[in-house]
Amino acid sequence: MTSTEAGAGPTPNDLWGGRFETGPAEIMQRINASIDVDRRLYAQDIAGSKAHCKMLVATGILTRADGEAILAGLERILAECEAGRMRIDPALEDIHMHVETRLRELIGEPAGRLHTARSRNDQVATDFRLWVRDALDRMDHGLRLLQSALLDQAERHAASIMPGFTHLQAAQPVTFGHHLMAYVEMFGRDRGRVRDCRTRLNECPLGAAALAGTSFPIDREMTARELGFARPMRNSIDAVSDRDFALEYLATAASVAMHLSRLAEELVIWSSAQFRFVRLSDAFTTGSSIMPQKKNPDAAELVRAKCGRVMGSYLQLMTVMKGLPLAYGKDMQEDKAPTFEAADAVELSIAATAGMIQDMQPDIAVLAAAAGQGYTTATDLADWLVRVKGMPFRDAHHVTGRIVRLAEKRDVGLEDLTLPEMQSVHSGIGEEVFAVLGVANSVASRRSLGGTAPERVRQAIAAARAEYLEG
Ligand code: ARG
Repeated sequence: MTSTEAGAGPTPNDLWGGRFETGPAEIMQRINASIDVDRRLYAQDIAGSKAHCKMLVATGILTRADGEAILAGLERILAECEAGRMRIDPALEDIHMHVETRLRELIGEPAGRLHTARSRNDQVATDFRLWVRDALDRMDHGLRLLQSALLDQAERHAASIMPGFTHLQAAQPVTFGHHLMAYVEMFGRDRGRVRDCRTRLNECPLGAAALAGTSFPIDREMTARELGFARPMRNSIDAVSDRDFALEYLATAASVAMHLSRLAEELVIWSSAQFRFVRLSDAFTTGSSIMPQKKNPDAAELVRAKCGRVMGSYLQLMTVMKGLPLAYGKDMQEDKAPTFEAADAVELSIAATAGMIQDMQPDIAVLAAAAGQGYTTATDLADWLVRVKGMPFRDAHHVTGRIVRLAEKRDVGLEDLTLPEMQSVHSGIGEEVFAVLGVANSVASRRSLGGTAPERVRQAIAAARAEYLEG
């Protein structure tokens, strides 16, 4: 039997094969089947069917006896799936047909009544929304735990001084806690994206049927309520046509993955032998089979890399959806694989990052020593010339630049220059200048709102705990 022979496949499908003389070619079955992917929707599919069944009974479309048989059968199928006992048959295409076929095996004739006033089009749109809604909730929970780990470290190191960077060049001293709090804010905004996406997603497509609605007297408010949706979707064509909720989820996941990859990159840099800013735990590193001294930041590297999957998934689904005429097209079956792949990657990345942050041990002495290198207090000197000497900032910038050049020529730090050396650049400089050249002074002086002074960092931590963890 070759796959190109017409009618080489099995007999016509029981669920829609009425108008067919022969079954699909083997190759048709393979391109058409989605069960390997959408089997992950079994819980949502069964929940959607239960809600639909209860509504059909409540509206008198289905008898109570049939309704009870269907609900009992669905419960049993759920238990079977949960126990890993779902029997997979590629001829049955997708999860919806698997559940319905099994239901018929279990309860017989009433199973065929469940699909009254419903189509696989509104069914799959409902199932997928429910799945993405759960994924959003899992992402939010993971991000909350990550924020909590970051906050604990930030609290411990609210006053630990490190170099802050721009262009990966030492720029100005900051505290380690302040740096970590930047990520707390980023993930806070990501959680805001999760919330927004969830709110827009949370409308129920069920009852749109194939695309036009149904002639049966269904109660869409009831099914929406039953499934935890805020309301039914208003337009039946839109309900079965759009996947913007999945795209919005993927865009949110991409933002999370992008933020995670930046943090991962910093962990890779910080844990290197050249920086030694932090030690990662044995639990999140690996050794080398040839170089006994090595401790590689594999988890951080993989978080950095998994970002590619998430971003790729967004582009993949965007490309599937663009140019599709309304309403449902089978193209849309390709919506789940990228979404599942991105969800797996981002959830794992969030958890691995939380673990790394929790275990990470910053080396306070190394951080402090590095904070003073690279003339990081040059801005403090310029600010001092403005504040104390009344110089315009541009002139102060110029004077400071010449002092830095002098220090560079002598290969010493700013605070190691002598007063006469400083005065050779600007005669007005006095002994008091040395107080502003230390990193601790620099950090403590940055008391502006959102600045790095330890007292500000502690305020920010308290505010973030209240906003993100106690909500
Ligand atoms: N497996 C299909 C999907 O995921 C279910 C919907 C099938 N609808 C149809 N009209 N063939 O999109």
